Amino acid sequence: MTGVVVLTGAGVSAESGLATFRAADGLWEKHRIEDVATPEGFARDAGLVHSFYNARRAALKKARPNRAHLALAEFEREHRGDFLLVTQNIDDLHERAGSGNVAHMHGELLKMRCGKCEKVFPIDCGIDAREKCPGCDVAGYLRPDVVWFGEMPYHLPRIERAIANCALFVSAGTSGNVYPAAGFVGAAKSAGAKCVELNLERSANGGWFDEGRYGLASEVVPEFFAARAGTGA
Ligand code: APR
Repeated sequence: MTGVVVLTGAGVSAESGLATFRAADGLWEKHRIEDVATPEGFARDAGLVHSFYNARRAALKKARPNRAHLALAEFEREHRGDFLLVTQNIDDLHERAGSGNVAHMHGELLKMRCGKCEKVFPIDCGIDAREKCPGCDVAGYLRPDVVWFGEMPYHLPRIERAIANCALFVSAGTSGNVYPAAGFVGAAKSAGAKCVELNLERSANGGWFDEGRYGLASEVVPEFFAARAGTGA
């Protein structure tokens, strides 16, 4: 039986109305990464960082899973083998579509973490830097449970094990600009997996893939996985 690993990026959530990062109207065109997605930026101005993520949490409330999310959840249900969905996305649209085995390597928008006691809590509204931690009751240390640039992504051992044992690696909706995610295709190729890219356009590491299908995620993702549903391939 073949193990399958799928890596998703912001392009999978774009048709649900959530902004991507590097498009002409992307998040990194409107905000400086160093201000809102680094520990240094948070230390400089926690309020600015909270307002950035509070706005993304508000946008997520209005978003619904699209056909790409739903197709991945259906494939996982019918697949007769190991399956891991690795996502760079911090939204919960994969889970709301029914995906179960999801590794959020960049953390989750709907969780906050206390920088003092390290406890993690669910959150679905705005966070204020001055709020007290529900765990240690100390104020001023709450942050989004999101992995910032310069921080270690989550779940890497689990992800590396799954890739080392997969026969099919599919990358969907990511520009292939950010490591270690952008390097996963190299590890999958070393493991002998077939590597497929499903994206709006050929990504920065597109040359690594055996096959590329280009178009809207809500179309190319369902098409690709429908042809494999239940086959174990
Ligand atoms: N269907 C398919 N692909 C799409 C769609 C769509 N509707 N819309 C955009 N795309 C593609 C773009 O062509 C691009 O290649 O999705 C990709 C999005 O790229 P980025 O905006 O760079 O997002 P991503 O690859 O997820 O970024 C990776 O960078 O800043 C960090 O932490 C952030 O997790 C993020 C990481």
